[in-house]
Amino acid sequence: MEALNFHTEPILAIETSCDETSAAVVHGSRVLSNVVASQTEMHAKWGGVVPEAASRAHVEALLPVLRESLGQAFPGLSLLESMRRLSGIAVTNRPGLVGALSVGVTAAKALALALEIPLLGIHHLEGHLSSVYAECPDIRFPYLSLVVSGGHTELVEVLAPGRYRILAETRDDAAGEAFDKGARLLGLGYPGGRRIEEAAAGGNPRRYALPRGTPKGADDFSFSGLKTAMLRLVEGEGDALSLSDAAAGLQEAIVDSLARRAASHLDASSGYQDFTLVGGVAANKALRERLTQVCHQRGLRFVVPPYALCTDNAAMIGLAASPRFARGESSGFDLDVEPSADLPQG
Ligand code: KG4
Ligand code: ZN
Repeated sequence: MEALNFHTEPILAIETSCDETSAAVVHGSRVLSNVVASQTEMHAKWGGVVPEAASRAHVEALLPVLRESLGQAFPGLSLLESMRRLSGIAVTNRPGLVGALSVGVTAAKALALALEIPLLGIHHLEGHLSSVYAECPDIRFPYLSLVVSGGHTELVEVLAPGRYRILAETRDDAAGEAFDKGARLLGLGYPGGRRIEEAAAGGNPRRYALPRGTPKGADDFSFSGLKTAMLRLVEGEGDALSLSDAAAGLQEAIVDSLARRAASHLDASSGYQDFTLVGGVAANKALRERLTQVCHQRGLRFVVPPYALCTDNAAMIGLAASPRFARGESSGFDLDVEPSADLPQG
């Protein structure tokens, strides 16, 4: 069985693929700093992420975030001294918003060139998948991971460090998108996941019948039926709608369809000892609790990153890069940004 070997020197990681500007310093599997500047408030005005505005906000935020991240990682050292401690620069180069990704990749190239250290482009989902390594560097391969974010819902078999196989994915909306669209319909605003979770507290998840999405026997996820049902519910109930019951029902429907799919894949396979839940939606307590049960009943260890490493951040990019730098990998200065890209197969 392959084990994770981490790079033995500090690396700087940059993440600007969507609406968080983040820089982190990772040493081995330890996160020395992880600074995130969120654009959520700005995009909330428009009800979602506006790509042009996101790129511009990254330009403004990136250097202060970098400075802060290096300052926290190397207290007492000057900016130049701390940069000289770095042995590599990792950056999210795919997938994501082209303009947003370009800001991070350009900064990473400039730093790698000036410091004469290697550069490494990282897949954003590999970042999410690697977010558990700080807490759990002894993870046992192969293992299963549920990746749930605003853009992705995937059940991934992690065969070995850096080698992935997608077992199931969504046919339409991502789980985070289902939370966000449901929140918009309920007038809760953006970003939806946390607002739905808060509104659902104390609500009755069984008051309104909502579909579980995936047809019987199908392996994939689907959330578009849920979106339509929510729209009908909101229109049908009008002022009589109970916000907390509707939010609780939506959350329960999403959690239930994710947990059932994960459970059926686990039942159909053997040989896994660990299961991880990663991505922005992994911050959801109801989902964490349900998957804890699913894993416990099957004798698997359930691993989830700390809350700060669930939503987009650069520490996870550094954690994905650390084993790759340890293997001597690097990207050339012709590293490009890719708006859509498959996970590395190995
Ligand atoms: O991973 P992430 O920060 O960005 C992407 O890569 O997409 O995930 C963002 C998604 C959003 O859809 C947001 O609504 C959802 O994660 N999210 C949550 C919670 N916190 C964030 N969903 C459910 N419950 C939460 N507490
Ligand atoms: Zn993400």
